[in-house]
Amino acid sequence: VKRYHFENEPDTDFVLQANREWAEKIRNKWQNIGEVGGFNAYPVVSGEIVQRDLHVDVIDKSQYHEKKLAGRYAEATPEDMKKAIATAKKDPDGWRTLTVEQRQKILMDVAHEIRVARADLIGVAAAEVGKVFTETDVEVSEAIDFANFYPYSVAKISGLTGVEATGKGVGLVISPWNFPIAIPVGGIAASLAAGNTVILKPAEDSILCGYRLCQCFWDAGISKNTLQFIPGRGSVVGEHMIPSREIDFTIFTGGEKTAYNIIKSRPDIALSAETGGKDATIVTALADRDQAIKNVIVSAFHNSGQKCSATSLLVLEKELFNDEAFKQTIKEAVESLKTGSVWDFSNRIGTLSNLPSGELKEALSSLDEGEEWLVKPDYADRGNPYMLTPSVRWGTKRNDFCHMNELFGPVLSVMCSENLDDAIDIVNATGYGLTSGIESLDKREQDYWKERIIAGNLYINRVTTGAIVTRQPFGGMRKSAIGSGKKAGGFNYVSQFMNLEYHETNL
Ligand code: NAD
Ligand code: ALA
Repeated sequence: VKRYHFENEPDTDFVLQANREWAEKIRNKWQNIGEVGGFNAYPVVSGEIVQRDLHVDVIDKSQYHEKKLAGRYAEATPEDMKKAIATAKKDPDGWRTLTVEQRQKILMDVAHEIRVARADLIGVAAAEVGKVFTETDVEVSEAIDFANFYPYSVAKISGLTGVEATGKGVGLVISPWNFPIAIPVGGIAASLAAGNTVILKPAEDSILCGYRLCQCFWDAGISKNTLQFIPGRGSVVGEHMIPSREIDFTIFTGGEKTAYNIIKSRPDIALSAETGGKDATIVTALADRDQAIKNVIVSAFHNSGQKCSATSLLVLEKELFNDEAFKQTIKEAVESLKTGSVWDFSNRIGTLSNLPSGELKEALSSLDEGEEWLVKPDYADRGNPYMLTPSVRWGTKRNDFCHMNELFGPVLSVMCSENLDDAIDIVNATGYGLTSGIESLDKREQDYWKERIIAGNLYINRVTTGAIVTRQPFGGMRKSAIGSGKKAGGFNYVSQFMNLEYHETNL
């Protein structure tokens, strides 16, 4: 097997004038896309684009008062789902017969197509899910990394061990809306690299993004039999696809309740399930305080806190918690974040993908005893209900609602700890275990924390979001990883989707 080199894709530097002009072109194309027919998506099944009536409108939530559309899509029917599974099983274009190296070459072309499509991917995510340009830009880089890295890791595994890697068969990728580009690309690329056919079912709120990224695979030469696209509701897919014995594995990223529903319906399926988080950053008295505030604010509020990796608990050592100047600096820093339309590049916080509901709605409507709003939530842009401003609850206590529940929105709860031991205990008590951060300049504190904290991704003096492929393989434990998941962006991730055949001569 030929060894290709892997290196991470750089993000766009929006400080450069040329890149700012490029961003303006993206805005010009996508801000009013609904007025020129919109960006539209169809099911893609058995090699064909199923061009039926585009009956679902996709509203551009950043332009709520103007009631603009980002596009439309046609939902897949249960019949489409059945057909897609049969085609994936049959593999009419023989994807499974390709060598590891042939698959790698094609996926490197996919990576290039994603690179070429960067502007469109940024535009479609802005229009459909209200992501600010810089946030989607890093997702596109991660998507390129996944498309390059997974075949590279398959090649490495077979090259190093001399084992023959064949796919398990048919993979189903069920992705969330909050990372509408990188997460589906990761699932598709890992499945294909390992020698499987694959079906993508994106979240209902990010169907246009899903369609645009699939075009990158098709444009690179992966057939519409090898990668099929099912824009469907979760409940319908749950009923008509999950129970199918023809699906050999599912790569799911989303909420833990949905993961349990999938397991209930197919207890025997190979499931990689990356679920939620209740992530925390501990700041000790030995931290660089300004750096700590800067990192916590990015971790808590970028993408409106709608990241499984977002810091939603800030645990301060008593000395810091009682320091009025420190408290005031947090307040001012949070208030300085501008929330508003993604089409105005000075806004740091864009649009929520959904109106606040469930745990987030509850957290916005009441405080627990002893808690106060350090920064109160509000709605920007003339009260656009999708434009929730960042807020901070001060004085959350053990077992309070916001200590234990994932909110998935721009709400940070600040807790007080007696010392580092107590802080670690507070964080471990959530039952989740995805990301965790510490801000401390003291090596002994860092080491002590590393030994005791329960989380998949640990970050020291760095934000808790934005894991980099190979450098920070991403995945959690406990309630954050239900199923047999290995870490995304790590070398052994692909091994879940392959059968490894050992030939005696190679041993
Ligand atoms: P969700 O569970 O509601 O939806 C995720 C996907 O599952 C969507 O595509 C949805 O249509 C589908 N789905 C829903 N019901 C289904 C069913 N019965 N059968 C099959 N598929 C079904 O989650 P969401 O609201 O889209 O995303 C938010 C959640 O995702 C949060 O909890 C967040 O922490 C988690 N998340 C985790 C990671 C991670 O890597 N750990 C990354 C992103 C998001
Ligand atoms: N991989 C994403 C992050 O690290 C979820 O933020």
